[in-house]
Amino acid sequence: MTEENPASLQIVADLLRARTGQQLGAGRMWRISGALAGVFRRHDISNVEQLVCLLTQPGGDQLAGEVVEALLNNETYFFRDKGLFDLLERDILPRLHEKRRGQRTLRIWSAGCSSGQELYSVAMLLASQRERWDGWKLELLGTDISPRIVETARAGTFSQFEVQRGLTVTQMLGCFEQNERGWQIDESLRRMVSFRQHNLLEPLATGGPFDLVLCRNVLLYFDPAVRQQVFERLFEAMAHDAYLLLGVGETTVGQTQAFTPASGLPGIFQPALTAPDSSIAEMPAPGRSMLNR
Ligand SMILES: C[S@@+](CC[C@H](N)C(=O)[O-])C[C@H]1O[C@@H](n2cnc3c(N)ncnc32)[C@H](O)[C@@H]1O
Repeated sequence: MTEENPASLQIVADLLRARTGQQLGAGRMWRISGALAGVFRRHDISNVEQLVCLLTQPGGDQLAGEVVEALLNNETYFFRDKGLFDLLERDILPRLHEKRRGQRTLRIWSAGCSSGQELYSVAMLLASQRERWDGWKLELLGTDISPRIVETARAGTFSQFEVQRGLTVTQMLGCFEQNERGWQIDESLRRMVSFRQHNLLEPLATGGPFDLVLCRNVLLYFDPAVRQQVFERLFEAMAHDAYLLLGVGETTVGQTQAFTPASGLPGIFQPALTAPDSSIAEMPAPGRSMLNR
């Protein structure tokens, strides 16, 4: 493997940070050329230094987009961190059912959804409680910065390897159909969800206020200032009594004043100043600006 020029590696890391907020710490810089192997092959580029030259030339912007896509970590799988999905099934969804039974609408956002396994897992959970949600309007939105991954999520077709990660055989056979392209998620589940491209550094123009937001394994690569900004964006998009699910080991504590740990629900967070569940009926309508608090 050739030794890469540190200044060129830094330019690529800066490009990723400027477009996505994601930081490549010193420990992950060495991964750059490996992650870019496909881009190098497609454009006949031999090293990062040459890539950096091409980025400044006409057509450089499209190449920059490809570089950013290649550097994003899209790791995900169905029912990732099963304990959190158990908590969702056992505690959060019943509470949300109670809180929203007046309007019978539930809005869920998977922010940084990658290829969709997270949101499809939630859809599968809701579908398994069909009677509870009968007659409800369920709006499930997945967003990711990568247009390529959003297309993959929308297609709802997964490889043998992907369906074997996190799904039981019963779920695999009950919710997917095998075809020549792989395992296609059931049409009724696909109709429950929608996906669109969105950068968490920017406000989400439409879709909220959300009752449940999953933003898992996304924030860990943001620096503290960007992370705080993203927490505020999430806050703006959520109902006052909504729930926020982060990845295992991620927390809002010491990171933002916008959220606090939900009492009695480990790993779950709520917008700050949320009233205890018992007094929710007295709170103003869901969705508000931090500025109005
Ligand atoms: C490691 S995956 C996590 C997927 C899923 N949430 C999970 O936990 O399984 C992180 C995702 O965040 C997306 N991402 C990174 N920066 C983003 C940003 N600024 N806005 C929106 N999505 C972003 C990446 O493209 C990637 O698909």
